[in-house]
Amino acid sequence: CIDIAKLPKETGCFTYDVGFTATAACKSAITYIDGDAGVLLYRGYPIEQLAKNSSFLEVAYLLMNGELPSKTEFDTFEHEVTHHTMMHEAFRTFLYGFRHDAHPMAMMVGMLGSMASFYHGSLDLEDAEQRRLAAIRLIAKVPTIAAACYRYSIGWPIRYPKNNLEFTTRFLHMMKEVPSEPLELNPVAAKALDLLFILHADHEQNASTSTVRLVGSTGANPYACVAAGVAALWGPAHGGANEAVLQMLEEIGRPENVGSAVAKAKDKESGFRLMGFGHRVYKNFDPRAKIIREMCHQVLNELGVNDPLLEVAMKLEVAALKDEYFVQRKLYPNVDFYSGIIYKALGIPTEMFTVMFAIARTAGWVSHWLEQQTDPEAKIGRPRQIYTGYAERDYTALDKR
Ligand code: ACO
Repeated sequence: CIDIAKLPKETGCFTYDVGFTATAACKSAITYIDGDAGVLLYRGYPIEQLAKNSSFLEVAYLLMNGELPSKTEFDTFEHEVTHHTMMHEAFRTFLYGFRHDAHPMAMMVGMLGSMASFYHGSLDLEDAEQRRLAAIRLIAKVPTIAAACYRYSIGWPIRYPKNNLEFTTRFLHMMKEVPSEPLELNPVAAKALDLLFILHADHEQNASTSTVRLVGSTGANPYACVAAGVAALWGPAHGGANEAVLQMLEEIGRPENVGSAVAKAKDKESGFRLMGFGHRVYKNFDPRAKIIREMCHQVLNELGVNDPLLEVAMKLEVAALKDEYFVQRKLYPNVDFYSGIIYKALGIPTEMFTVMFAIARTAGWVSHWLEQQTDPEAKIGRPRQIYTGYAERDYTALDKR
């Protein structure tokens, strides 16, 4: 209960909103969500239409610029992104400093932060072209850095971006082991990954995007802003959920164990939640989960993968959707529920799942950062608090305590 009389005089309206469930911190024209109806629009275009017809790079252009590109605009954008895929050679020094078994997301936070040290000199945040270039560099270099982190973590030499390949295929090529089956050339794999990138590209003021905006509100370097976004994404309540889903499915192990897993998730004392279920905004089916579910079956069929975890996932989904606890709380499978299985089928290692999310969400992060830089109403983000500590008291000397 807040004693209004005790609040500072300048306080107009003071809300106590833990987790910002009902507080808009900015205006944005990028992404629209209707959580009750299960609607997601990027710049007005339904996610279903973009998933069916577009590519990740085209979606990145749309998010950044507000309109779909003409053929010439797209070709120029693709050329620019391709031009910036290489890392400065000195990045290797940073990479080789990490422990060999570091989590790739830990390396990503460090590597993205280090980009600020490479591009600070030429960066004038007042210059729209400089800002645009920073955004393009990030979209282009994050996949290169991601693949390098992975290859370092397993002791393989870094593979340079092959710039005659398209965005998603190029990433798969950088990731994969040389003598292995050339999965990177498999069109089904590339299409599936591109689709996952589209679906993860933006989601308005989620925790990582809000973090990018909060850091951006101070006028910080954009690479540092995105490094902060990567850190926020890592947690299992946000982007880390896709990795956690797979670990959970592996722990459940067999379809006959699904019932006890659901029972455990309902028991608050257990501290166990069904990973990949529930969403802060969607209180209906996550529209991205609907698309991914279909893609998941297609990928497994076309790549000939017979994954027993899918059977566990299916049974879990049915069991949860029928269960009163999950129905009452509107806990539906979210985007991360199926994406882990697709990544696994594509041969992406589990610890890279959240990194995949970061590659895609970079498009959203930079778009929000760009939008914020020209927002005339933008100001430094500075939440307030409800103080629960001591009232004023006097200092006691050390020998009197
Ligand atoms: N399993 C079991 N119970 C759950 C789950 C779950 N996955 N999610 C929420 N609940 C329960 C809570 O215990 C709570 O129950 P109560 O009302 O009896 O106390 C109720 O549902 C509401 O949960 P909150 O935690 O208040 O919901 P919130 O909106 O704060 O959290 C979140 C949303 C973090 C996504 C949550 O549903 C969760 O932890 N899910 C699992 C992790 C996950 O999949 N995260 C990915 C999110 S999507 C993304 O980042 C791309």
